[in-house]
Amino acid sequence: MQLDVFTLVPHAFAWLTEQRPVATVLGNELDLRLFAYRDFTPLRAGQIDDEPYGGGAGMVLRVDVVAAALDAVYGEAPAHRVVALTPTGRQLRQAEVEELAVEDSLTLLSARFEGFDERVVQHLASDAISMGPYVLSNGDLPAMVLVDAIARRLPGAIKTESGAFESFSVALDGGLEYPHYTRPSEFRGWRVPEVLLSGDHGRIAEWRRTQSRARSIG
Ligand SMILES: C[S@@+](CC[C@H](N)C(=O)[O-])C[C@H]1O[C@@H](n2cnc3c(N)ncnc32)[C@H](O)[C@@H]1O
Repeated sequence: MQLDVFTLVPHAFAWLTEQRPVATVLGNELDLRLFAYRDFTPLRAGQIDDEPYGGGAGMVLRVDVVAAALDAVYGEAPAHRVVALTPTGRQLRQAEVEELAVEDSLTLLSARFEGFDERVVQHLASDAISMGPYVLSNGDLPAMVLVDAIARRLPGAIKTESGAFESFSVALDGGLEYPHYTRPSEFRGWRVPEVLLSGDHGRIAEWRRTQSRARSIG
């Protein structure tokens, strides 16, 4: 997948690119490109934002600046999906991650300050996605969340079994994963459920299914 992120601070993504699973798929299944709006702005002195029409606090990321950046990189309107990261978008769920992870190309737009000029969302983006009903200072953390969530769905990113049996997976009917335990089997009187120590794989599988269902409806 060709995954492009437009941001004010490309260097913020350095940490992410060193972490698994992103690091694992970088250069093979994932080609991650980071673009700075400032490198493409047609305005003087690297200007990318402006005061809001109608007044009010904060600065707004200009539509002409975002358009110039997209034009410079793609030449014309991208044929693939362009996701604006904004708290006003639809909230990200695993189903959308799966959907985005099978795209050949994808562009993420991150903003700061008061956010995008609305015409970015309306005319330059195909999707608007929110990380949840809260406001973060910028779209870079949301972009990193999305890159990570997509990267772990790409071939070879994680062990197939880990990806198949996890929260929100089809194998668990879209529900939550069952609890995990490891050594010691008893700590401060807190014992690991007996069934997990039994070696009876049929009972263990049944216990896990029951736990997963109970958590998912609870
Ligand atoms: C301070 S926020 C702007 C908030 C905006 N004024 C509002 O009230 O909806 C700046 C930028 O951070 C990003 N951002 C903040 N919270 C987000 C969220 N929950 N999901 C996705 N992006 C978010 C977006 O790119 C947003 O434009």
